[in-house]
Amino acid sequence: MSRNMFELEESCQLKTYQKYPMSIVRGEDVWVYTSEGQKYLDLYGGHAVVATGHCHPNVVHAIQKQASELIFYSNVVYNETRALAAEALCSVAPQGLKNAFFINSGAEANDNAIKLVRKVTGRPEVITFEGSFHGRTIGTLSATGMAKYREAFSPRVSDHLFAPFGDLDALESMMSDKTAGVMLEPVQSMYGARSAPPAYFKGLRDLCDKYGAMLVFDEIQTGMGRTGQFFFAPHHGVLPDIICLAKAIASGIPMGALLVSDDVASHVGYGDLGTTFGAGPVASAALLATVHTIQQDNLIGNVQEQSAYLRAKLNELPIVKATHGLGFLVGIEFEVQASVIRDFLMEHHIITGTSSVPNVLRLLPPLTLKRPEIDLFLDVLSQFSS
Ligand SMILES: Cc1ncc(COP(=O)(O)O)c(C=O)c1O
Repeated sequence: MSRNMFELEESCQLKTYQKYPMSIVRGEDVWVYTSEGQKYLDLYGGHAVVATGHCHPNVVHAIQKQASELIFYSNVVYNETRALAAEALCSVAPQGLKNAFFINSGAEANDNAIKLVRKVTGRPEVITFEGSFHGRTIGTLSATGMAKYREAFSPRVSDHLFAPFGDLDALESMMSDKTAGVMLEPVQSMYGARSAPPAYFKGLRDLCDKYGAMLVFDEIQTGMGRTGQFFFAPHHGVLPDIICLAKAIASGIPMGALLVSDDVASHVGYGDLGTTFGAGPVASAALLATVHTIQQDNLIGNVQEQSAYLRAKLNELPIVKATHGLGFLVGIEFEVQASVIRDFLMEHHIITGTSSVPNVLRLLPPLTLKRPEIDLFLDVLSQFSS
């Protein structure tokens, strides 16, 4: 593609994305191809979206078949593909969270979770955490702990409070009979893939039970197998009241979902929640194929095995200070700025991402990533010298 196409894209859209000077035209599994015919290893997974790899044949087939039959009808009618997709998602949901509500994005999932915790408890306050990112709608920005995303858009929606991540005493000092819910990313992806020990999550559940508040896991990045389990909950045996999903859920077709407890579900009546596009037939077909592919290709097992190998090898490299995160949500801490490493890797045709922590690089690869590509990445990374 000529530079003119870059200029065309820039000339007719708001200048809100700083793009790499490349145009990606094709994807296959963990690889993407540019208009110039160059091949890149995608360790960023199209921003944690392509769980099943780029253009997995099952997903492509499901979308094509559905598009040829019915592209869209809304939730005012029943639809077999939606029914099967909901059944498939609920079949892998943690026990006790087998009630789904579908929307179109991560921010919408979190916004609806905020609405639900207020409706269920009849209370106003939602506590989220410093360092968090929950989306860019006015509701989810108000819940996002990183000030740089909010500053230009004040005032925030009222009754959102921020607690320091990982500190149960500090959280409890903010909780009261006004607390509707506590919402967190179990691994704070943007904040350098920071997580907390198992006891912290048990403590969160206990505090929510003590104060009658709802516990919400924003699993928009950690859900759908990325951490080496379908969802975060089984890692530490802590069940939230609501799980929020998006990104990888339909392998790249826009979709979001809530999985909620029976108690939460019992508070939802006709007309309380809704959206035009939620679980349209094409998105549902993509979700159904995504769940089946994760199961059939044993992608959860692959994440467990390959992420353990990747982390062990990374920790042997002298330039790596530490690794963070879980499974294929990988934060790599360096002495140097992560952007320098990202640019070096990009020159060697490997796509990675930075984070809000300046010296932490992030990998969010497709769940299909295998050892030869991991070795290729490690080999290139080991050649970096500052
Ligand atoms: C943890 C988390 N929550 C919410 C969102 C918002 O999702 P979306 O961009 O689909 O609205 C994101 C997006 O990066 C995210 O990483």
